[in-house]
Amino acid sequence: MKVLVVGSGGREHALVKKLKESPQIDALYALPGNGGIARDAITVPGDAKDIPGVVAFARSEKIDYVVVAPDDPLVLGMVDALEEAGIPAFGPHKNAAILEGSKVFSKEFMKRHGIPTAAYEIFSDEGSALRYLETAPIPTVVKADGLALGKGAIVAMTREEAKAAVISMMRDRVFGASGDRIVIEEFMEGPEVTVLSFTDGETVIPMVSSMDHKRARDGDEGLNTGGMGTVAPNPYYTSSVAEECMKTIFLPTVKAMREEGRPFRGCLYFGLMLTKDGPKVVEYNCRFGDPEAQVVLPLLGSDLFTVMRACTEGKLAETEVRFSDGCAACVIMASDGYPVAYEKGFPISIPADGWDRVCVAGAKEKDGTLVTSGGRVLGVIGKAPTLREALDEAYGLAGRIKFENAYYRRDIGARALRAKEG
Ligand code: AMP
Ligand code: GLY
Repeated sequence: MKVLVVGSGGREHALVKKLKESPQIDALYALPGNGGIARDAITVPGDAKDIPGVVAFARSEKIDYVVVAPDDPLVLGMVDALEEAGIPAFGPHKNAAILEGSKVFSKEFMKRHGIPTAAYEIFSDEGSALRYLETAPIPTVVKADGLALGKGAIVAMTREEAKAAVISMMRDRVFGASGDRIVIEEFMEGPEVTVLSFTDGETVIPMVSSMDHKRARDGDEGLNTGGMGTVAPNPYYTSSVAEECMKTIFLPTVKAMREEGRPFRGCLYFGLMLTKDGPKVVEYNCRFGDPEAQVVLPLLGSDLFTVMRACTEGKLAETEVRFSDGCAACVIMASDGYPVAYEKGFPISIPADGWDRVCVAGAKEKDGTLVTSGGRVLGVIGKAPTLREALDEAYGLAGRIKFENAYYRRDIGARALRAKEG
């Protein structure tokens, strides 16, 4: 079988590495991929958002199955277009990807179906949003309705910060049309957990839980980033919490989407907060998380390709999805200065025995050498029976990977270890 993965980040590299293990796949392509992915798949130039371009390539190359990994092409309807061309694809249709594509849709959806989430108000004009903020409880969270490269949620600790967020989204339109409508919601507190799940629209199978580290600096300080590291499983996600989430969040979400005529097939990402009033949804995403995929997929004991096809074909109930009991950690090595301004173009040296445990995000091949080309450069993965060993493995390898201006957090997993070991 010929399989194409659409996308170019560390998540896509993790997907490629896992799919490569499948005996059913003879040829694996990535569009556009990156300099690291090129070591594990055939990379094809192109733009992951270019729907006609991807369909044309898949057709001409006689691709049997496409995995659409990033949010933008899913929200734009790439899976629908591939299917119309007779090519099966992993990922939700456009009408289900809206769960991530519109915060307004997802909040109203949760309210309609009694799925626990933060209380909220929706605004489509700046004046009423600013008036509301005069008396709204503080802290509060201001969110742009549409996709905003993961930067569309602002946790405002003061009234002034909240107003500034509204003005930047609605007046200055920093996220363009994504800020035409905004959600202002209740500030929640508690440990955050990511649960990725496989679903075929009927059956939902949660994967092993994980914990992201979104802030740039140690001690969860500094700016929000795309994610500086992850661990799995997440120690706060106990079996009783898992049971409650299944009952109050996962099953109701999948059932309600089906009943609304938007069956969700693919990877449904539940961003959860374990509040004192129980688990609540912070956000849904319509895809694997990045860098959550980098720790969850190495723990998957079943053939990923089989599971993905079962999601597409509505056969998940008959398919075994197994996870190992071990732990995984991912430390992101970034260019110093990320997420604001950073230099790139520096050669990267990775020890030969470390390649298996590296997921490349922002690097390209230049004259036969891998050089940095992004803020998040690569993720270093550790996998071991205990979290401590997995972290030691990841940090051990990170210390042996060299590039100028490399920066990484030194405390990935520290909070998880404290929760686990007391
Ligand atoms: P989102 O883009 O919705 O995932 O939000 C990004 C991050 O902002 C989340 O991972 C949380 O850390 C934080 N956040 C979002 N919504 C809330 C909320 N209602 N209360 C507290 N923190 C939040
Ligand atoms: N790591 C967060 C995300 O993928 O949205």
